[in-house]
Amino acid sequence: MRRGLPAHAFDGRPHIAIANTASDLTPCNSHLNEVSESVKQGIWEAGGVPMNLPVVSLGETLVRPTAMLWRNMAAMATEEMLRANPVDGVVLLGGCDKTIPSLLMAAASVDLPAVVLPGGPMLTGTFRGVALGCGTDVWRLSEEVRAGTLSEKAFMRSESSMIRSRGHCNTMGTASTMACVAEALGTVIPGVAGTPAPDSRLLQSAHDTGRLAVELVERGHRPSNLLSRGSFLNAIVALAAIGGSTNAVVHLLAIAGRLGIELSLDDFDRTGAAVPLLVDLQPAGRHLMEDFHRAGGLLAVLREVRDLLDPEALTVTGRPLTEYLDDTQIWDKTVIRPRGEPLQSAAGIAVLYGNLAPGGAVVKPAAASPELMRHRGRALVFDSVEDMHARIDDPDLDVDASSVLVLRGCGPKGYPGMPEVANMPLPAKLLERGVRDMVRICDGRMSGTAYGTVVLHVTPEAAAGGPLSLVETGDPIVLDVEARRLDLDIPQEDLQRRRPSEAMLAGFASPSRGWERLYIDHVMQASQGADLDFLVGSSGDRVSRESH
Ligand code: FES
Ligand code: MG
Repeated sequence: MRRGLPAHAFDGRPHIAIANTASDLTPCNSHLNEVSESVKQGIWEAGGVPMNLPVVSLGETLVRPTAMLWRNMAAMATEEMLRANPVDGVVLLGGCDKTIPSLLMAAASVDLPAVVLPGGPMLTGTFRGVALGCGTDVWRLSEEVRAGTLSEKAFMRSESSMIRSRGHCNTMGTASTMACVAEALGTVIPGVAGTPAPDSRLLQSAHDTGRLAVELVERGHRPSNLLSRGSFLNAIVALAAIGGSTNAVVHLLAIAGRLGIELSLDDFDRTGAAVPLLVDLQPAGRHLMEDFHRAGGLLAVLREVRDLLDPEALTVTGRPLTEYLDDTQIWDKTVIRPRGEPLQSAAGIAVLYGNLAPGGAVVKPAAASPELMRHRGRALVFDSVEDMHARIDDPDLDVDASSVLVLRGCGPKGYPGMPEVANMPLPAKLLERGVRDMVRICDGRMSGTAYGTVVLHVTPEAAAGGPLSLVETGDPIVLDVEARRLDLDIPQEDLQRRRPSEAMLAGFASPSRGWERLYIDHVMQASQGADLDFLVGSSGDRVSRESH
């Protein structure tokens, strides 16, 4: 055998793929080859045979136009390679934002025994004696540069100080959120999510995960018989308690869709909205992932909301998630708050409806300004990201702090891929006057590391003919988060008489070929997880024909 495997490697023992998203172009995952070596040792030790399988890797910082455009492609490619190759189970190695979601979507559709090992966050870096959070502080400091209170040179130095080690963003951005959500779903060995990337305990967990993958095959535990609706509701509770990224909404909807589990946008509001925010991490709070891990991590948080969790939902170990909560404890109450002293009493993602978002839109109260949660203001409309960049800093822009910034053409079809642009920059002239938040509305997404009173994932998107396409600058818009409403306050007849502007239509993407064409023709709206319609569901692991 070319790999030098002994003959007994083929005596029927489980062959385990390590779906590995290591790539030099995905800096957040660049250490996963080393992690894979520890996974291999665990697989060998448990009597399996490891097979490293490099899969499509997506890095937020480098991939254009947006890594989200390729999430479904990565999921499809991974699913097909896991089916096409002779493997019995899989270890999923991810880190950067889209990698864990795409791997879980793939595993759900091929339905092979699967366990996730999250690559872990970076260690905390400091600048001028202060800890800086990846992403969040870049947004914050870039506003200071635009406001004239920080030099560009100091800004560049701050960025390199922030990236102190390997690993993914160390805020509760999408990568940290999806690692925690994957653990709450039951797909990670409980207690592992949040282990910093350079921590030797990550390699220990990698070894354990390899061992467990072999066991999973022996037990016959597949995503279809491990994950239930209760697992997803547990993930929603966790998402709310940690103040996690809004991106988790689209990812969880997509993963559930692959499993045929009934999950809707409303489940996030119904199950999550009343959950207290217990984790004081950026972007909603102050601390970083290293603090979170030291303070007890996800299990310590879940122990506080145990009564809200489904006690039957299983984990990859074969034991229910709630069984792991007895041995946990909060070690630092400034980072993880006890249930009785929450940062906010009800901070889960709220789902809004109204004549501006008939299919729903989401807002993350934990990252918003309380005084803007109920607001009426005049719309200032941008037809594309380029239009917004061209005009936002114009000193003559007709805007004040009460205006509502509307950005459209950024949905799954319109851009395409639904970029993280919803937290659009505030007009420079208002920044100079000290304004630091305004109501913003968009059919795109927002980075998990971002903050502000941002209504996002507006459905249907403008490019799918949603009412967002008919808003005109000057229209009064009413946001009422408590009432769960987002409305354009103009007579319905006036709205019906309007036609979409040429400028907006010209901004929508219309590729003639390739993945982008396939994507636009088949992508579903954000409220359905933005998966491709023909990828919903599972095909199992059966191969249809022989090769020769
Ligand atoms: Fe990869 Fe933030 S850029 S996790
Ligand atoms: Mg991101």
